[in-house]
Amino acid sequence: MAVRHFLTLPDCTAQELAGLVARAAELKDMNRKGLAHRPLAGKTLAMVFQLNSTRTRVAFETGMYQLGGHALSLAPADTQLGRGEPVEDTARVLSQMVDAVMVRTLAHEEVERIASASTVPVINGMTNRFHPCQLLADVQTFNEFRGSIQGATVAFVGDGYNMCNSYIRASKLFDFHLRIAAPKGHEPDARLLAESNVAELAPSPRDAVADADLVVTDVWSSLGHDEEVEARRRAFAGHQVTPGLLDCAAKDALFMHCLPAHRGEEISEHLLEDPRSVAWVEAGNRLHSQKALLEFLLTSS
Ligand code: CP
Repeated sequence: MAVRHFLTLPDCTAQELAGLVARAAELKDMNRKGLAHRPLAGKTLAMVFQLNSTRTRVAFETGMYQLGGHALSLAPADTQLGRGEPVEDTARVLSQMVDAVMVRTLAHEEVERIASASTVPVINGMTNRFHPCQLLADVQTFNEFRGSIQGATVAFVGDGYNMCNSYIRASKLFDFHLRIAAPKGHEPDARLLAESNVAELAPSPRDAVADADLVVTDVWSSLGHDEEVEARRRAFAGHQVTPGLLDCAAKDALFMHCLPAHRGEEISEHLLEDPRSVAWVEAGNRLHSQKALLEFLLTSS
């Protein structure tokens, strides 16, 4: 049987994704009750970090520990990747020693190359194209506060980059309506948008947010945009999420941000403290959703 990877959401069926989100909630409940669950005893996850991370790293490392396994973090300076060893060779070697590999790297093609050479599951821990693990946590968080996201309206305000792309794919697989407000020149890939018949561009942040059940944003300058920070500040002015913008959404709307946040840019200074913000729970749910994913990839035959 072919090895299962998780590089982007459609690597799982809609049914499997719904199962992962439901399982994440169960694992969270078990964790809260102090119930031990160690199906990954003796298993190791290698985490290849070519870019910085707080949430992804801590969630995978803690998740492996709680599931009875072990995780090791490999930064470029620690490995021969930093000295130019081909990623395919690294993937072949890791496959001989560990049970799964998580990769955070800028170029999505690189994680695809690693997966093509790997005989163990490879997980995308974020690339320039997609951040599928974050979407598992986001959908889990919506479910936790409001029930099923199916049929809900979600507004994404900001950069048509990896988070926006992942929301587009999620809209089809979890069956919610997605409105995107991105500045001119920063819209998501039109081909990706065409994949989902429930995602659309909105003319303005207010149009996107009108009566939405969930409002989401991400930083204006992601990893890989270090040279464009000032130009992006100018381009994205008018796309800041504020309490006033959230007032245009549904009365019981939620606000999410994958973090880290840049206060004064994509969000106003105190938005994370707004009662509609569930960003801290969303961040915590990275642990439970990634545990569900690890369990799925490493224990399903
Ligand atoms: N949201 C997210 O992926 O956070 P990190 O960059 O800290 O992993």
